[in-house]
Amino acid sequence: MSEVVSAEMPSNIALIKYMGKVKGGDRNRPTNSSLSMTLMNLLSRVEITKTEGTYDNWETLQEGRWLPTKLSDRGRKRFLAHFEFLKQKMGVEGHFLVKSANNFPSDCGIASSASSFAALTQATYELAKTQNEKLDLSLAKLADLSRVGSGSSIRSFMHPFVLWNEQGVSTVDIPFQNLVHKVIIVSREKKAIGSSDAHERVPTSLLFEGRPERAEKRLEELLSAFKMQDWGLAFQIIWSEFYDMHALFSTSRPAFHYMSDASVKVLNCVHRYWEENKDGPLVTMDAGENVHFIYRQDQKKIANEIQLELNAEFQIIGDEGRDS
Ligand code: DP6
Repeated sequence: MSEVVSAEMPSNIALIKYMGKVKGGDRNRPTNSSLSMTLMNLLSRVEITKTEGTYDNWETLQEGRWLPTKLSDRGRKRFLAHFEFLKQKMGVEGHFLVKSANNFPSDCGIASSASSFAALTQATYELAKTQNEKLDLSLAKLADLSRVGSGSSIRSFMHPFVLWNEQGVSTVDIPFQNLVHKVIIVSREKKAIGSSDAHERVPTSLLFEGRPERAEKRLEELLSAFKMQDWGLAFQIIWSEFYDMHALFSTSRPAFHYMSDASVKVLNCVHRYWEENKDGPLVTMDAGENVHFIYRQDQKKIANEIQLELNAEFQIIGDEGRDS
């Protein structure tokens, strides 16, 4: 049997969002800088095996802790097109079976494209090195190749906090360590509109004018709030940032939405908690229905109180990548 090469890469959650692409030129160039936290326990795994066929193929990985993934025809074509691009860039010869899966539900706002494209890029690099021992790509180069497949995957190559701007990706020092990430799963349904389509549509919103400037301003404010260790201000900035992105979705022509009644219920619950206690988690949403909470280590009591309220109705995926 042929040797299998593999890679596992993490997802990431943006606090300042990549939404909107520069038209023309290079693929997946953002119209504004973004800042994310890498989710070291929400992983995608890619395994690549040589085949005797005349084309590459994809199937889901079915193994232990990995949740079988379903890719649409379009999704499979996109994944394999990126593999082909990487093979050419890295000088890989031959045809292969690519298997992939995540340890978390995909396509419902937990950025599975970030981790899966990052894992595909990393696994292809491992494969390329088996054919060319001298191949030596920097982390920045590898991350940038991954960006061509899916923009947000560029931020999955570093941790814990990653800035993606015109210069590329870099880590940022933020004086909060070992933050705890939870996803409140309000739905496991696949979203009707993928984030790549969302990028296409948002420029049709009249609110898109000024969006890059607002995002840059928030980024600056957020970095400064973190520096001052002002958690409450960081919460407010991150909150207004995801609402800004969701407002773009809702005012695009035609409009589309990810936020559901259940998402709003979760948001209201955590907002009320903040108002009553003047403390709580950072809260954000991606292009999906689910709601992300980020706690400091010393907020265990707060996390328990909020979760007690939400647990009855919603599943919560913990930092461990398992349901808790
Ligand atoms: C809402 O990276 O999924 O998650 O580059 O077309 O693959 P493509 O888009 P993608 O966009 C992610 C958008 C987001 C915000 C973010 O992660 O910054």
